[in-house]
Amino acid sequence: MKTGFSRIGFVLAAAGSAVGLGNIWRFPYVTGEHGGGVFVFLYLISIALIGLTVFIAESYIGKESRTNAAASYQVTSATNNKNWRWAGFQIFAGIVILSFYAFIIGWIINYILISFTGLPSSIKDAQDTFTNLITYEIGTQILFHTIVIAIIVYIGLKGIKEGIEKANLILMPLLAVILIGLLIYSTTLDSFGKAISFMFMPDWSKFNVDSVLAAVGQAFYTLSVGMGIIITYSASMAKDANIVRSSIYVAIVDTLVALMAGVIIFSFLFSAGAESAAGPGLVFISLPLIFGGWGIFGQIIAISFFCALLFAGITSAVSLLEPSVMYLIEKFKMTRVKATLITAGFVYILGIVGLLSMSNDYGTMLTFFGKSLFDWLDYLTASIALPISGFVTAIFLGYFVDKNILKTKFTSHVSLTIFNIWYFLIKYVVPIAIILLFLNLLKVI
Ligand code: PFF
Repeated sequence: MKTGFSRIGFVLAAAGSAVGLGNIWRFPYVTGEHGGGVFVFLYLISIALIGLTVFIAESYIGKESRTNAAASYQVTSATNNKNWRWAGFQIFAGIVILSFYAFIIGWIINYILISFTGLPSSIKDAQDTFTNLITYEIGTQILFHTIVIAIIVYIGLKGIKEGIEKANLILMPLLAVILIGLLIYSTTLDSFGKAISFMFMPDWSKFNVDSVLAAVGQAFYTLSVGMGIIITYSASMAKDANIVRSSIYVAIVDTLVALMAGVIIFSFLFSAGAESAAGPGLVFISLPLIFGGWGIFGQIIAISFFCALLFAGITSAVSLLEPSVMYLIEKFKMTRVKATLITAGFVYILGIVGLLSMSNDYGTMLTFFGKSLFDWLDYLTASIALPISGFVTAIFLGYFVDKNILKTKFTSHVSLTIFNIWYFLIKYVVPIAIILLFLNLLKVI
């Protein structure tokens, strides 16, 4: 039985990993907070120069080493140095991200049900629905969190080809159909033109360093780099695959989905005269309120929208589990069942502690130095671990792998010019961009 990805299967699964809550939930609200067009412009540049460069790098490491995300660095390094295994810390960061990614997908299931039974009718109602869910409804959240973990385990247990590739083959086209439908509908709204100009006509007075760094951070998050995911998936890709081409396909699909989600959401928001800078509550507070004002039709749109978000979330969640599963299988000779259950069990428990940290009853107990455990996990992984591992990967390929080997491997598929551009980006541009990101985080710039 073939266990690796087919050629199209890899692109689909990597796109399934990339296209997630980051595109439909995070991208629109970060765009809104950073003033629209300027941010979109910076984001596109960050994807092309930084995100795509690291994506190709991870794909190279995985495809050449054909092993898990920790061993892969050692195998690929010029000296076979054991210390490179520490780069595998990103596997752990990935499962920590998954612990809260899973209960956020649980919220989405809750909103699909709300879309059937009754959407909020006033802003207070919309805010209360969301606040009640995260602060009081612990049982509901644990129930949906359990369902999400069960779905992921079910797919993960079937393995790369039968589980991950198949799930993507079904869920990705469904996601595409729903998003295209919503996009067509948004073109009929008067606010469509306003949404387009908000997103694509930069207002340069809104330009600032923060937006540049937010754009770089979003590029990492959205392409699923820095978590060992792309390394893990690439280890199962066809041996003669063209990694530059497949990476470009994934980046294009991911970017198109983010832009579509942005246009759809801003058309909806502007049609109701709502705020574009509503932050993380945009999708869970502002949108349900708007859908609620559209009657039965709004319920149908709401169900479609939250299903799109659910499908995108599931295919990404499955990918966040796989690096750890592959690591445990290879390192400790575990069976897939045992490796999946151990990883999922850890994610399940950490997720519950994470969601309790936002609740009324346990919030104070699980708050440290002014941040809830959930905020800490989010901050330490998305803002710290992701860029650090991107940095490690860039330094690794730029300085610890023989350039001639890289050149030979790359130029069997792409021109020397393309290789030279990628090499310049990975050796200089990516590390400098990440250092700037950290200086900004430390408030030095
Ligand atoms: N790329 C996916 C998304 O944008 O939602 C999944 C993901 C991967 C999210 C890695 C976060 C992350 F750190």
